[in-house]
Amino acid sequence: GVDLSPEAFRGAAREADALLCYLTDRIDAERFAACPKLKAVANVAAGLDNIDRAAAAARGIVVTHTPGALTEATADLAWALMLAAARRIVEADRFVREGRFEGWRFDLLQGLELSGATLGLVGFGRIGQAVARRARGFGMRLATLDRPSLDRSAWPDVKGMDLDSLLAEADVLALQVPLTPRTRGMIGERELRRMKPTAILVNVGRGPSVDETALVRALREGGIAGAGLDVFENEPALAPGLADLPNVVLAPHIGSATVAARERMIRMACEDLAAIAEGKPPKYPAPGIYHQDTKTARE
Ligand code: GLV
Repeated sequence: GVDLSPEAFRGAAREADALLCYLTDRIDAERFAACPKLKAVANVAAGLDNIDRAAAAARGIVVTHTPGALTEATADLAWALMLAAARRIVEADRFVREGRFEGWRFDLLQGLELSGATLGLVGFGRIGQAVARRARGFGMRLATLDRPSLDRSAWPDVKGMDLDSLLAEADVLALQVPLTPRTRGMIGERELRRMKPTAILVNVGRGPSVDETALVRALREGGIAGAGLDVFENEPALAPGLADLPNVVLAPHIGSATVAARERMIRMACEDLAAIAEGKPPKYPAPGIYHQDTKTARE
């Protein structure tokens, strides 16, 4: 995208009425101070953790995002990672390419059978529910964190439980939560220890929800069986050792990277900026700061 280095930013920002930004742009109080005319920030993302919404509110700056545009794309990617990790697809591909395939073998690359397995969903907002809909087709059992907002009539087959029970019961733990003070570091050494040694962890939300160093250790020592990650704690850097593990599938934050989702995202952001310019309310304003309900989960 655009050059948003501090120097370039200061020059362009002085005159800016609005900013269209990506999740890699950290928009904080310092940035706002450099933009005296700023009225609106449109984040081309569902997540809003890159924007200091309190600082925006204090200056009367409207913040918008793109909820709903990337629900299905991101749920697809969660499933791609889940299937790849469960059936060891990256390992298998490497095995074949390296010329090690010498014929069918009974004990070759056995993985986790998803049918009948329990999918523990951390985050049951739009994306979590889209992941769950797919899971029904695969014959998985469904569980998520007990929340008053859990719609029992739409999800009679989803078991609600506390985090410790979810960790203990999940064969696949799928994270799709926004990054908030509550979700930062929510899966650390203690939580990983409660998981089954056969379990797989998938994260398509935000990297800092997982202690990546503890995850590397758990994966290396057999604490859990595998992981599929689209996001990283210190993106784009990886925790030492992560890329050397055979039992992880890694993607470069491509959850919303379908042509259709990206078109919707940019259109929603531009439409909201146009509305704001005309003095109308935006269609997709940022929800309240640190809104804790998982309904807003990364999505
Ligand atoms: C992507 O990570 C998004 O929040 O849109």
